[in-house]
Amino acid sequence: MKTLFVNIGLLGGITESDVLMKAGSAMSHFERIENAWLLVDGEYIASFGDMSDIPKKLEQLSNEGVTFTQNDVNGGMVLPAFCDSHTHLVYAGSREIEYIDKIKGLSYEEIFERGGGILNSARRLHEASEEELVAQAMVRLNEIIRYGTGAVEIKSGYGLSTEDELKMLRVIRTLKELSPLTIKATFLGAHALPLEYKGRQSEYVDMVINEMIPLVAAEELADYIDVFCDKGFFTPEETERMLMAGIKYGLRSKIHANELDYSGGIQVGVKYNALSVDHLEYTGDEEIAVLKDSETMPTILPGAAFFLNMVHSPARKMIEAGLPVAFASDFNPGSAPSGNMQLILSMACVQYRLLPEEALNATTINTAYALGVSDELGSVCVGKRANLMITEKLPSLEFLPYAFGSNKVSAMVLNGEVIAFNC
Ligand code: NIG
Ligand code: FE
Repeated sequence: MKTLFVNIGLLGGITESDVLMKAGSAMSHFERIENAWLLVDGEYIASFGDMSDIPKKLEQLSNEGVTFTQNDVNGGMVLPAFCDSHTHLVYAGSREIEYIDKIKGLSYEEIFERGGGILNSARRLHEASEEELVAQAMVRLNEIIRYGTGAVEIKSGYGLSTEDELKMLRVIRTLKELSPLTIKATFLGAHALPLEYKGRQSEYVDMVINEMIPLVAAEELADYIDVFCDKGFFTPEETERMLMAGIKYGLRSKIHANELDYSGGIQVGVKYNALSVDHLEYTGDEEIAVLKDSETMPTILPGAAFFLNMVHSPARKMIEAGLPVAFASDFNPGSAPSGNMQLILSMACVQYRLLPEEALNATTINTAYALGVSDELGSVCVGKRANLMITEKLPSLEFLPYAFGSNKVSAMVLNGEVIAFNC
């Protein structure tokens, strides 16, 4: 089936097929055509151009006897769908009680030490059935589609036992089957130390390595492996051991690093060629130097920094140093209970001083890279999968991050299929 989109006010995020991410000054280029058309053939982008060429295009299609559906975008923008390369959106229930504790002044670490935080979610997940977890996660997935996301990474990490980690990953496998979103699964057995392992952290790490990773690999449940390498969680040495075990089973890493301190997480991630290192509140000159010339995508999660009132990662400094940066949601019940990537876009601009074009690249092509899918998603490019967001008619590209808090997406195209939202 072919769909011809016409009267596109602005078709943005156009790249050549060999552009897999944008770094440094290239991040400020977000190529576009004003007044455009775009033809989708099946799941893929077939061609696009200027509306002034549309009579010629229509004649060509009719000469070739091609049948197609015409979709008038009425001056709205068509952009690559957001890729959200870091979430924990499979979880049971919510944790607003801790939200109150945070308002009263308790830190993330203090809440964790009281058995809250990740351990709280682990208890609830243990009690929930796979069906309940799928149902809850589907609501979240449908919500993020509504806000413009077309591809998402989902981590395990609220299991913290072999049985429950596998349960979480099976839930993610079911979500891959049920949802039109492109989904990648990340095994995060080393998210926190379960209470019963207190004082025996190395035994837990051994279990991740010797029991969990082989089983996860045997069932092919994960695309990537993650470790929370930070102060009070897992050390660089432990992280190193787990990443090596992952590599043995073909799992590339995407790790939590430098959220709570200069943890050495960035260094260990780069050493093992991580696809991304995420959070990065504590990133200094040494970390930036390590990231330079690596193939690792520095990924910033402004939702968590906002929600936990943390210092901000030096995104501007990284871009000035020639690095790429990606921005993802971190959607999770403890530190970022929102997967709204339009809000992430606005935060990237206001709080991290990215220009709108930089922020758009940081949430599309660069997060597609951090998801390992930038050869097929993350930009408007002939031959790429048609995962696109269609906005209402907006005065400018800049309006999208500027008018924060309102949903400007009126329809999505996922794998070539149009989902309209009648708003
Ligand atoms: O990315 N930093 C570690 N993990 C999550 C938080 C998970 C939670 O609190 O439930 C994060 O922020
Ligand atoms: Fe996270």
